[in-house]
Amino acid sequence: MVKLTGVDKKKIAVFISGTGSNLLNLIRYSKKKNSFFKINLIISNNRKARGLNYARKYKIKKKIVNYSNINIAEKNILSELKKNQIDLVCLAGFMKILSNNIIQKFKGKIINIHPSLLPKYRGLNTHKRAIDNKEKYSGCTVHYVNFKLDSGKIISQKKVRIFKNDTERKLARKILQQEHILYPKTLNKILSNL
Ligand code: GRF
Repeated sequence: MVKLTGVDKKKIAVFISGTGSNLLNLIRYSKKKNSFFKINLIISNNRKARGLNYARKYKIKKKIVNYSNINIAEKNILSELKKNQIDLVCLAGFMKILSNNIIQKFKGKIINIHPSLLPKYRGLNTHKRAIDNKEKYSGCTVHYVNFKLDSGKIISQKKVRIFKNDTERKLARKILQQEHILYPKTLNKILSNL
């Protein structure tokens, strides 16, 4: 197996708005011998996002972007991505929708993790909707980001069984555990093919 040094690894920016548990698992995976990536930048629209603590802990550069004006916000984002020579962006609980402008400029280089088996349950409240519809399975999906919300090409998915006594919370927890495995593995696979 190829062991990459820090310099050879692809540079990743992770966008967050909250807890950042996916961010943490991407960071942990990036430190493995066989990882093809390094987390070089964390971007958050929320200065109180708990996940920002990982920037300090792991000495990763962070940037808080003020979204009161989306055009300025995205200009700042693009300039940070350029300045840090970012190769690929991972959205991980980022609660803002990226405009066509930014998606176009980073075409095919922005991925997201979504807590449902897309194309089912795009958008928010996925677990409640899956339970209310008496689905037997839900899960998580890693996909490319395109112009339509949660609609880009699917890269990988993991199914999770919904049991009769599963609450929204319980299901969210089970799915999040799978996200933590699926997201870094998928990212590494994409990069190994580049
Ligand atoms: C995850 O469920 C992810 O699928 C969704 O937002 C949540 C983020 O959780 N897009 P965390 O901030 O990574 O803990």
